[in-house]
Order: sequence, then structure tokens, then C-alpha cells
Amino acid sequence: MIHYSDPPILLRDVIEDVGEVVRLLERNAPYTPLGGWYRPGADLDAPTSAMWFQNDWVHADLRVEGSELFLFHERVTQAARDFYGATVIVPHSVYVNVMAALERSGPAHTDNPRFQGRDRSNTPMWLLRTMLWSGLFDRQAIVQATSIWWMNDVEGGAFRYWPDGPDQPPREHVGDMANTALVGDNHGMFHQVGPVGPFDQGTRLVTPRAELAPAADGSGEWAVTDRGEVRYQAPLDRYRVSVLWKADVYRDEAEQRRQMADKLSIPDVARIFDRDLEEKGANVRLDLDRLEDFGLIAEVQAIYPEAVPVDKAPSIFDAA
Ligand SMILES: [Fe+2]
Repeated sequence: MIHYSDPPILLRDVIEDVGEVVRLLERNAPYTPLGGWYRPGADLDAPTSAMWFQNDWVHADLRVEGSELFLFHERVTQAARDFYGATVIVPHSVYVNVMAALERSGPAHTDNPRFQGRDRSNTPMWLLRTMLWSGLFDRQAIVQATSIWWMNDVEGGAFRYWPDGPDQPPREHVGDMANTALVGDNHGMFHQVGPVGPFDQGTRLVTPRAELAPAADGSGEWAVTDRGEVRYQAPLDRYRVSVLWKADVYRDEAEQRRQMADKLSIPDVARIFDRDLEEKGANVRLDLDRLEDFGLIAEVQAIYPEAVPVDKAPSIFDAA
């Protein structure tokens, strides 16, 4: 039903001139703390955010100058073809994560799925994830390749991943990460960021208003400024910088045409779930008027549970 992927492909010496990436980082500063899916409704003035900063460089309506360095990277694109045995690779997203001082890991997770006609612009995230784990929508699922590139080696900062499925122990990419990339299936394979140094003060928390940018003091370092005060400052190479690339994957153009013509509407999704729920003898149905109702969400998710990977490390987002 759910297909766990092969191990990702490791590439070395990925970017010829890492200085180009530094300039990209500088031009697109500042960076803001991770929000959204993991942190709904965060209080903007409470220091609740770890120093995990993020910015988009490419998405549907955006392509920052210089991002082609990643978007159209030849070896990464070829690795995606090789990984999937596919000929059509449509890169669509590039974004960057910058982290420091995370005493615990990031969450162990698979990346959010998309389906023909259904994505987070028109469908609640819990429903997209339940569609994935139900295995009922494999035909319309958009296969997405992911590349993660690391700029430097920092204290900690491992990439933990479960290439043999969530019931087998994870592997780690750690040390010797500078200018390497892993290309594979982060939508099918669980993965997790390990703790990131420095570790002298635990996880340092900032408010969602904090910004990371080149320091104003002429030192050449990068600083985290939160409501007017510098909270942390270090050379860029002490921050864990990773650049993510995502592409849609189709076996060939005929498959791309066939799949793109087969778009799911919300009533389609409900009909497919309801037929399966009936076959399972479950009483709940996907009531389209109750898609925000936590009771309904819990009932449906209990029937199509997500896997929980073995040996996952405690996350900064776990309840304290
Ligand atoms: Fe991820």
C-alpha cells in the first residue's frame, strides 16, 4: 500500500562555488522562524520558537535571482531520474533552513503529500496526510523527489532517515556533510534533523518575530535579532544551512498526461473514503461539512493511522 523507498542517493561536491550560495543567502535575508504546520496559532510575542529559520527561494509564484543554481542542478536532476527510473522531472520548489542551538531533534516525519487536484491550497493538511496513509489514492498521488543539500559541517546537525521503512532502525548522515546532497523520497521515507549545536545553553528560544540576517556590526557574522535585541551571533559556518529542492516525477510524458487529466475533487475524495469505510465496517463517513471537526478528524485518522518510526529521537515539538 505505502511504498517505502530505496535509500537516497548521496552526491558529493554538489555546488562548484559555495560563495554563490552565501550571496544567495545574503540577498534573501532576513529569515524567520519555522511556522505553519507544526506551530499553528503561535503567540507572536512569546519566546516559543527554536532558532530554526526558513525562507522560500522558489515556489509557484516566486523564483529569487540565483536560485537556478539549485532549481536546475544537472546532477541532482539526474539523480532524481535514476532514483525513480523516470524521465520527466519537474522541479517546483527550493527553500532553505538555517538552524542553531537545537538541543533536541526536529520531528520525525514524512513530507506533506500532494495529489492531482488536491494540495494544501484547497484541502486540509490532515486530510491530505490521511489520503496518503489510506493508500486509496496512489493512482493520483504526485510522486515528488527531494534533494537536501548541506552547506557546512556543524556541531551535531545529523540527518537521520529510515530508508528500510519505519519498522527498521534509522541511518544517519553526519559529519562530512559539507557540500553533499541526498536525493530520494522524503515523502515516503521518514526523516529527522538531529540536535544542532552549540549545546551550551540548551534550545535557545526566540519569538516568531525574530529574524536572522547578516550582523549589522561589520563582523561578517550572522545575527538573530528579536524585538530589537541581538539574541545570538555567530559566523555563518556555525549555522546548519540546508537547501531543499523538490520536483514532481513522472515515468514518462504519456504517464504525465494521463495523471494530470485525472484530478480529484473533494466529493471524489469523500466517495472513495466512504466506500472503503463501509467495506471496513466503520460507522464514520467523511462528512464534508465537518472537515474542521476534531472529533471527525480523530475518528478517521484512527482508521488510517500514520506509521511511527522506531528509534525516533525526542523532538523540540514534543510536549515538554
Ligand atoms: Fe522533511
